[in-house]
Amino acid sequence: MRPPKDFFRPLAIGAPDPLSEVPSRPSRMIHFFDPSNPRMVAKVDDMAGQVDILLGNLEDAVPTESKEAARAGLVEVGRDFDHPGTQLWTRVNALDSPWVLDDLTTLVGEIGDRLDVVMVPKVEGPEDIHYVDRLLAQLEARAGLERPILVHAILETARGVAAVDDIALASPRMQGMSLGPADLAADRRMKTTRVGGGHPGYLVRSDPPVVDGQPDVDAERATAQQDLWHATVARMVDACVTAGIFPFYGPFGDIRDTVACTDQFRNAYLLGCVGAWTLHPVQVDIAARVFSPEPDEVAWARRVVEAMGDGSGAVMIDGKMQDDATFKQCQVVLALARQLAERDPDLAREYGL
Ligand code: GLV
Ligand code: MG
Repeated sequence: MRPPKDFFRPLAIGAPDPLSEVPSRPSRMIHFFDPSNPRMVAKVDDMAGQVDILLGNLEDAVPTESKEAARAGLVEVGRDFDHPGTQLWTRVNALDSPWVLDDLTTLVGEIGDRLDVVMVPKVEGPEDIHYVDRLLAQLEARAGLERPILVHAILETARGVAAVDDIALASPRMQGMSLGPADLAADRRMKTTRVGGGHPGYLVRSDPPVVDGQPDVDAERATAQQDLWHATVARMVDACVTAGIFPFYGPFGDIRDTVACTDQFRNAYLLGCVGAWTLHPVQVDIAARVFSPEPDEVAWARRVVEAMGDGSGAVMIDGKMQDDATFKQCQVVLALARQLAERDPDLAREYGL
């Protein structure tokens, strides 16, 4: 552990100073594209206008034979990227892969001034962040960058989950974390074959009715599917908030099931996540809707904040008790609404802000 006094010192001579606070920007969706796919690259400019974060993916889902084309494609995209309101991120290959060193060296050298965040997959512990931290500092110094590139970890191994607090606190370069349910399921040996979402077998069932004094276990009984990811998302949110960084839900693989995707995203939103990954344009609309507060909620939050003055004491509004804690919750909703209203004139109108 570095001493606190050194925590904000650059890790290489000439590298930019680390940030003491992660900038809070609209981050409702991290939209993935494959930079080796010319059809997707052709749509980048269009997509960039619709999403908060555009991510050039170099890792899983890019075939081995396209790894270099993806890296080169992202350099091209980065050079022409001119969308000031939209962040440009990349997901590099895993730290034990043969590609990651060239991914980082090439991208920081060629488009480091355009890249906001590097997403690092399969992070197992703080040592992985320390490695990337030092390497990025060296590369930033060599490229003469003026602001640090931030790091986002994917939580997708059991060891990573066990070390989630230490990962979140590993460096001032940490921007946030995403739950990666597909790799995490494989690593944990969960018996699922999906990318995120629930499973019909993971459920709770009501007690059996009693017939003639005996439980009738074969009777029809109500069941409810449970959220496989609840515990891990909650744990990740606490780790991120403690470290002053941002939590995200990751991918939802069943593109056609827009209803279950909405539910998964909404669970993450209500638990504290700021956004989710989007793998297809239909999911962009879902994330934009789910991760923006409802206009009714914003109106309610304004009412509470206005009625509470400095936030102390307690008042009743429509029969509901409000105090310091609800005042703070309402401030969270209002702050998000104000931030999104600045980016999106439609939302500004709906919120009356
Ligand atoms: C994402 O990378 C996942 O494995 O879910
Ligand atoms: Mg993964």
